[in-house]
Amino acid sequence: MKLLDGKTAIVTGANRGIGKAIAETFRAHGALVLACVRDPLADGFQDWAAAGGYVPIRLDLADADSIKEAVKAIRAQAPSVDILVNNAGLAHGGLFQMTSQADLRAVFEVNFFGPVALTQALSRVMARKKAGSIVNIASTAALIADPGTMAYGSSKAALIRATQSMAAELGATGIRVNAIAPGVTNTDMAAQMDAKAAQKLVEASALKRMAEPSDIADVALFLASDLSRHVTGQVIRADGGIV
Ligand SMILES: NC(=O)c1ccc[n+]([C@@H]2O[C@H](COP(=O)([O-])OP(=O)(O)OC[C@H]3O[C@@H](n4cnc5c(N)ncnc54)[C@H](OP(=O)(O)O)[C@@H]3O)[C@@H](O)[C@H]2O)c1
Repeated sequence: MKLLDGKTAIVTGANRGIGKAIAETFRAHGALVLACVRDPLADGFQDWAAAGGYVPIRLDLADADSIKEAVKAIRAQAPSVDILVNNAGLAHGGLFQMTSQADLRAVFEVNFFGPVALTQALSRVMARKKAGSIVNIASTAALIADPGTMAYGSSKAALIRATQSMAAELGATGIRVNAIAPGVTNTDMAAQMDAKAAQKLVEASALKRMAEPSDIADVALFLASDLSRHVTGQVIRADGGIV
């Protein structure tokens, strides 16, 4: 059964990792996927987009003008928007005392301010149809204060809090907003983590394995589809069960 037939989905950070898995899963379920990436001309990406029928959109979340241009491009390519996945994110590791204001702001720009600006613009488009699903990719780092995660974890905690406000304010227009908090997931970002810290989180989970990007993509599919039609304002932890 295809869960997203006839739907248009916007996925940020679609060129690799969790975003790529979400784009592929949504495509397999019948959605038209607008794949937002920083470099649509990158070799590997161009081939993947052409083969899979993805519509590439240039988007740099750290650049307010780029967000405006991306919204224009999305509206030119798609008359309506049904699903938005704010997946793109920037990792940062460093002790609180050693974190510069510049680094803190850079992390918030990509993980919080950019997604909020994009969501403000695209939720207006969704509201016209009185329907839509927005999925914000947060992190268990928003909930677990391991040393060295202040900037990244705080930006994701802010995204979770924004998810709740968005859900409360947009519910009346038929738009649902939820977040996923993945644990350690097998992508380039996890490879950047301190190996011992990553292993500690995996060992603390009931399932005792690192997530694959497809594990997270399937949760995004549930939240994007009508299967979750009465679910909004929630954070689903996909961390193998850190209880
Ligand atoms: N992997 C994990 O263990 C884990 C755990 C919890 C949560 N997450 C979250 O899951 C999401 C996906 O992470 P991932 O593991 O797939 O990471 P990843 O492999 O490092 O990919 C990050 C993606 O974000 C994009 N991105 C970074 N800065 C951007 C910017 N300024 N504008 C637009 N796009 C930008 C990257 O684009 P480029 O290719 O151009 O750099 C890339 O597509 C992130 O929000 C991350 O915080 C990951």
